[in-house]
Amino acid sequence: MLAAAEKFERRRDENRGAKVRLDANAQEQEQQQDLREESAAAFLKAAADPLRLRVLRLLRQDAMGVSELCDLLAVRQPALRHHLKVLSGAGLLRSERDGNHIFYRRSDVDRSLALATLQQAVLATADQLELDQETLARLNILQKTRELNSRNFFKQNVQKFREQQDLIAAPVRYAEAVEELVTSLSATGSGTALELGPGEGWLLPILGLHFETVHAVDNAEVMLDAAQRTVHQTGLKNIKFHLGDSSGAFIDEIDADLVVLNMVLHHTAEPKRTLSEAVRCVKPGGALLITELCEHKQGWARESCGDLWLGFAPTLLEEWAGSAGMLEQSSSYLGQRNGFTLQVRLFQRAPLS
Ligand SMILES: C[S@@+](CC[C@H](N)C(=O)[O-])C[C@H]1O[C@@H](n2cnc3c(N)ncnc32)[C@H](O)[C@@H]1O
Repeated sequence: MLAAAEKFERRRDENRGAKVRLDANAQEQEQQQDLREESAAAFLKAAADPLRLRVLRLLRQDAMGVSELCDLLAVRQPALRHHLKVLSGAGLLRSERDGNHIFYRRSDVDRSLALATLQQAVLATADQLELDQETLARLNILQKTRELNSRNFFKQNVQKFREQQDLIAAPVRYAEAVEELVTSLSATGSGTALELGPGEGWLLPILGLHFETVHAVDNAEVMLDAAQRTVHQTGLKNIKFHLGDSSGAFIDEIDADLVVLNMVLHHTAEPKRTLSEAVRCVKPGGALLITELCEHKQGWARESCGDLWLGFAPTLLEEWAGSAGMLEQSSSYLGQRNGFTLQVRLFQRAPLS
């Protein structure tokens, strides 16, 4: 009798437990549904504003600081900060502290998220917006100012360039890793390589030995002269020098097996654009080699070393290379003095099938 009563109570407790679990599951599902609805609504609300769409359009290529965006859009900081907060809250933007400045960048489209399709559609819509002449003119001035700051650094500091470079990452600290990759890529003596921003040109003789033709492109005349002197000492005759940058028309004439960007992207006004312009000459099956600082917080690098950007997250370089049609092949990370980390990245354009 007692046993039957115990059994009855146990079964009743089990049933109650199961009901509680079912209720909890239903509640959780309901909450998730609410969350999806809420985040979709917040997302659409964030996008439903002309100024916010223009912010997304302006950030198509690269990150910008609050005061840069204020100048471009001719709005005051408190108003813009509100819009940036709404866009960040909806996951459309992310902010990065760069020394004493905060920069905003568009968030990557995360394909695993329920909102990915909406996000893609919003960004595609923003990208189709035509910027008015005034905004375009201001954007042009901003890019020219960034470029000028970078060029002036090299112009004025060519003497102490090596010394400053040593504070962060002297070539000797990544030369071995880079040379190993160059050697593994080249069919000795044939093919074409292009180096953007060769600086004093330490890599050019190595490229010159492994490739039939090498193009060296630098936008600072003093640095290009220094690179020419380095090459002159080796007697190599297969290196062509171009004063200019990645937007130069000569790049379209080149069919490169390898493009090298060593410690140059953080000196460029629009690193994403520079990368995609530089690799437009990479032929199918060709490679892109990037040596770059990982993101850091050492703002003194701006003044002392002419850096426009405080390094880049490895995922960001992957994303930029990916959108320029390059697939990651290998990556290594090298610790440096003063707490810096270097990333040595190799990407490849898919060969023709
Ligand atoms: C830090 S140095 C790196 C030099 C060399 N690649 C190395 O690993 O030592 C950066 C070089 O990139 C050049 N540079 C900066 N911005 C450039 C741009 N937009 N186009 C071409 N060269 C650029 C600078 O003039 C400088 O020579």
